[in-house]
Amino acid sequence: MKNANMMEFTQSSRLAGVAPSPTVAASQKARDMKAAGRDIIALCAGEPDFDTPEAVKAAAIEAIRRGETKYTSVDGIPELKRAIANKFWRDNGIDYQLDEITVAPGGKAVIASALAASLNPGDEVVVPAPYWTSYPDMVRLFGGAPRIVETTPSSGFRLDANDLAAAISPRTKWLILNSPSNPTGAVYDRTDLQALADVLLAHPHVLALSDDIYEKIHYDGAFATLAAVEPRLKARTLTVNGSSKAFAMTGWRIGYAGGPRRLIQAMAKVASQTTSNPCSISQWAALAALEGDQSILRDRLLAYRRRRDFVVRELNAAQGVSCPTPAGAFYVFASCAGAIGKKTPDGRRLGTDMEFVDALLEAEGVALVAGAAFGASPYLRLSYVASDETLRDACARIKRFCASLA
Ligand SMILES: Cc1ncc(COP(=O)(O)O)c(C=O)c1O
Repeated sequence: MKNANMMEFTQSSRLAGVAPSPTVAASQKARDMKAAGRDIIALCAGEPDFDTPEAVKAAAIEAIRRGETKYTSVDGIPELKRAIANKFWRDNGIDYQLDEITVAPGGKAVIASALAASLNPGDEVVVPAPYWTSYPDMVRLFGGAPRIVETTPSSGFRLDANDLAAAISPRTKWLILNSPSNPTGAVYDRTDLQALADVLLAHPHVLALSDDIYEKIHYDGAFATLAAVEPRLKARTLTVNGSSKAFAMTGWRIGYAGGPRRLIQAMAKVASQTTSNPCSISQWAALAALEGDQSILRDRLLAYRRRRDFVVRELNAAQGVSCPTPAGAFYVFASCAGAIGKKTPDGRRLGTDMEFVDALLEAEGVALVAGAAFGASPYLRLSYVASDETLRDACARIKRFCASLA
């Protein structure tokens, strides 16, 4: 019999429309299978396999010794904000004052706080697909409505200015842009951004969120960001970045942004009632990362490029898979259209990319993420954040799996 004092938990209606992060779920499943003794290669996580630079670790240890272990101002210590302002000027040519800068526990928290601070029920957010899996769910979590706009391989998965114009309505609050992109690796150049900026200039009610978290991981040409390309948009653009991907600091949880003062203040209000402040020690570590020797990034980029080229070549040799060469980030986004409809040796028909990913994990122990998690099917996202040897092994298994389909 049920205990009358036991209340059945029901989640909020806000949360009901929100899915848990599929990339986090895929990584957890791979970890569970590994723990159960299976030989698993997990290429589903969005985190560098490199270690946090030694100088950054040393700065954190020094901060602990100095007693930097207390609450800080909610949106970041002034020393770090100064380093961030210098970074935006040095790397991007954007001049932010300290009160136009915010620091939060990760880029994810920066984006969540921007949406929490700005969205009213029914406000629309334009999100190009394939998208980072968290954008639409975060928009829903804060009462907004994602307005998904598809992009295609023929345009290199970059948002077309005409499609942006068609997607904007009087309810549009934000456009979210992510370059280099997770999951496709697409990179917008100055010309692409200027075309989008021209559309935004004609719609002064729309804010832009430029998620530049993969800024340091791109292979050709110069990195460009919206507020630098079109300074007239600076007053309504939030330029988001962080230390997770560039400096292999995912666990430290430091993200930051530059943006219009009133938005930054509203985000600080959200932080003051939710997170309080990003970890004090991590803030000193992030400062050391931003101000320290940047040559480590170049060395790591060379390793990423080598891995990318290898994985692209190998996946294109897998039956039923085709893989364009991404210009940035550390993912490849490969079509598995040629494998859909085929059967595994034990008779399972692969009707979707999710079924492909499940069957690959079962048969060969390689964990990828299905394109469905990013709003595009049938695709596979592979994170090449593993050693050359592991990637060789993984690609051999994927090719064997594909060859086994009939
Ligand atoms: C596109 C994109 N933006 C933001 C983030 C958030 O990163 P973090 O919260 O670790 O700074 C990620 C992480 O996977 C990402 O892929």
